[in-house]
Amino acid sequence: MSKILVTGSLGQIGSELVPALQKKVGKDNVVGLDIREPKEDIGPFVNQNTTEREGLKAVLKDNDITQIYHLCSILSAKGELRPWQAWHVNMDSMRNVLALAVDMDIKKIFWPSSIAVFGPTSPRNNTPQKTIIEPTTMYGVTKMAGEGLCNYYFHKYGMDIRSLRYPGLISYKAPPGGGTTDYAVAVFYEALKSKNYSCFVSKDTVLPMMYMDDAIRGTLELMEADKSKLSVKTSYNMSALSFSAEDLTKEIQKHVPDLKVTYEPDERQKIADSWPQVIDDSRARKDWDWKHEFDLPKLTKVMLEKLGEKFAKEKS
Ligand SMILES: NC(=O)c1ccc[n+]([C@@H]2O[C@H](COP(=O)([O-])OP(=O)(O)OC[C@H]3O[C@@H](n4cnc5c(N)ncnc54)[C@H](O)[C@@H]3O)[C@@H](O)[C@H]2O)c1
Repeated sequence: MSKILVTGSLGQIGSELVPALQKKVGKDNVVGLDIREPKEDIGPFVNQNTTEREGLKAVLKDNDITQIYHLCSILSAKGELRPWQAWHVNMDSMRNVLALAVDMDIKKIFWPSSIAVFGPTSPRNNTPQKTIIEPTTMYGVTKMAGEGLCNYYFHKYGMDIRSLRYPGLISYKAPPGGGTTDYAVAVFYEALKSKNYSCFVSKDTVLPMMYMDDAIRGTLELMEADKSKLSVKTSYNMSALSFSAEDLTKEIQKHVPDLKVTYEPDERQKIADSWPQVIDDSRARKDWDWKHEFDLPKLTKVMLEKLGEKFAKEKS
C-alpha cells in the first residue's frame, strides 16, 4: 500500500486532494504537511517547513513515505511582492523533495506546474504543449525551472515524476493563496456576501480556468495512468474552459441578479496579460484520456450552492 505525503496540504488544492487520496488509499496512509497548523482534524498531519531538509527527511523516514505530492509553493501575485522569497520557497523545497526522494528511493512524485510557465512571447491562443517558454514572473521562472528538473530527474535517476500545468482553479473549500486568478473565486464569495465586487482585472481579461473537482480527478488519473503512455516528461498542458471576467459576472448574475461588479485593474493585470487565454491540451487528452466535466454554467451553479451551504453552516 502506498504511503503518501502531500506538502502544502492546507492550501486550496491540498485541502481537496488529501480527502480524495484518503478515499483511495485510506485515511492513515495519507500524511498532510504544511507550514501552518490545521483548524480541524484532517487525518495524519505534520507541521514542517519544506525548505528545511533535515526536518523533511525525518518526516519521510518516520512515516515510511513511498509517494509525494509536492504542492507547497508561493503563487504568482504573492511571488511578485517578494520575488527572491518565492524563488527560495519554490526551488529549495523542490530541491529538497527531489534530493531526498533519490536518497530514500521514493520513485513516484507529483508536482504541479502552471499556465504561468508561459510568457508574453508564447502564443496566447491554443498555446501548444511545446512552445516558447519565457515567463516574466518569478513564479513562472520557478515553474520553468521545476519543469526542467522533472525532465532531468526522469532522465538521470529514472524518477517517475508526473506534472500538470494547472490553469486557474475555482473552488469553495479553501480560499486561494495569492494567485492572479483569485478574482474568479473571490467574486463568488462577494456575490453571496456583499453583492458588490471590485475585480482586479479588466472585464475583457480571458484566462484558462478549471473547477477543482476536475483538477483533482485529472491529477489522480494522471498518477494512475500507464507510465509507458506518458510522452511528456516536463509538464502536461491541462485545460477545461476559458472565459472573460465579464462572462463570469454575467453567469453569476443569472443566479444573483443584484450582484454589481466593477473592474479596477491593479498590478495583477500585467501578469494576466502575460499568460495564455486558451491552452491546447490535446496531448493530455491523447496520452491519458484527460476530459473535463465542468463548463461555466455547471461550475457557477455548484460554486453558489456549495458556498451558500458553507456560509449557512458557519452562521449556525
Ligand atoms: N490554485 C491554482 O489556481 C493553481 C494554479 C496553477 C498551479 N498551482 C500550483 O499548485 C500548487 C498548490 O497551489 P495552491 O493553490 O493549493 O496554493 P496555496 O497557496 O493555496 O497553498 C500552498 C500551501 O503551501 C503551504 N506552504 C507554503 N510554504 C511552505 C513551506 N515552506 N513549507 C511547507 N508548507 C508551505 C502554505 O501554508 C499553503 O497551505 C502550487 O505549486 C501552485 O503553484 C495552483
